Amino acid sequence: MKVNGKDYRTVWMEGNTVCLIEQNLLPFEFKIFRAENYRDTCMVISTMIVRGAGAIGATAAYAMAQAFLEGDNDAGFIENARQEIENTRPTAQNLFYAVERVYRAGQLSTGQFSTEHAAKEAQQIADEDADACKKIGELGNELIKDGDKIETHCNAGWLAFVDYGSALSPVYAAHRSGKDVFVYADETRPRGQGARLTAWELKNENVPHVIIADNAGAHLMSQGKVDMMIVGSDRIAANGDVANKIGTLEKAIVAQHYGIPFYVAAPVSTIDFGCASGTDIPIEQRHQDEVLYQSGPNANGKLETILTSSPGSDALNPAFDVTPARLVTAIITEKGIFNPEDLAVLNTQNSTTMD
Ligand code: MRU
Repeated sequence: MKVNGKDYRTVWMEGNTVCLIEQNLLPFEFKIFRAENYRDTCMVISTMIVRGAGAIGATAAYAMAQAFLEGDNDAGFIENARQEIENTRPTAQNLFYAVERVYRAGQLSTGQFSTEHAAKEAQQIADEDADACKKIGELGNELIKDGDKIETHCNAGWLAFVDYGSALSPVYAAHRSGKDVFVYADETRPRGQGARLTAWELKNENVPHVIIADNAGAHLMSQGKVDMMIVGSDRIAANGDVANKIGTLEKAIVAQHYGIPFYVAAPVSTIDFGCASGTDIPIEQRHQDEVLYQSGPNANGKLETILTSSPGSDALNPAFDVTPARLVTAIITEKGIFNPEDLAVLNTQNSTTMD
């Protein structure tokens, strides 16, 4: 994707350094963060300098490759690093999928380690992520009609992946193919990924859009102003239940009430066939300050964080919820568009899926 006319991926590797777009500063500042070792890269994931399922997965893959480079054939070091990387965030399946692949690729049958194989596998994962998202865009575009108004929740655009995005990829494809599309971007409290990141992406791509308060969706749907919802996912269970950013479940319930199609777009690497249903998906609980405080530029353009809640009250901050498969119209993957109950067919097709 282009930023100021230059092509970027969300995350890439230069030598032994992982380079990332610093997402905590967007849309106010565009900066590249350089993570010099696997511990830096772990910090980048846990502090959400990078976020979104596919981007987290690629970053974790690169972190694992860095660990092989730093580990100097020390099995204990590499195993430890693997655990640290896996402990950065619990919900996005792509993280576990990617770490497993690089960890396996870096072990030779001789019992030795191969930094070269590990680095190659990490790059392969990043490239596959971008390719899958491009394909999701092409397939998803077929569901979009000229003139459609689409609501989305959180950011499942290119910033949430290596490139293209999942939920926004069909929107970009539709817009580029000349269709008149309009997006309602839910602001997505508490961290505002919709208001900050989705809106920034859509503006860069010249896609007509507005930011709406998280609680405005039902009203717009009741007035016939939303033709479809497309959201991303952090983990999809084998039965088609979908974990996504907190607030998604409410939208799915309302969409069903008003007969509005509710699509989930995600690469096959987000499906966890080891999770029988959504109740098995770990839901991340994040710090209460994300709810209690908000940040943005002050009059001098300097980023500041201020309290926006009643002093002394605590907050609860579950980061994800699970939408049952029966509320999902279809899941758009790079391998096709599936009824959520029919995902099992992908398990046999995808030999790298963990089970
Ligand atoms: O907490 P985040 O920002 O990493 O959350 C992940 C997400 O961006 C969303 O849940 C998104 O809709 C799915 S991930 C592509």
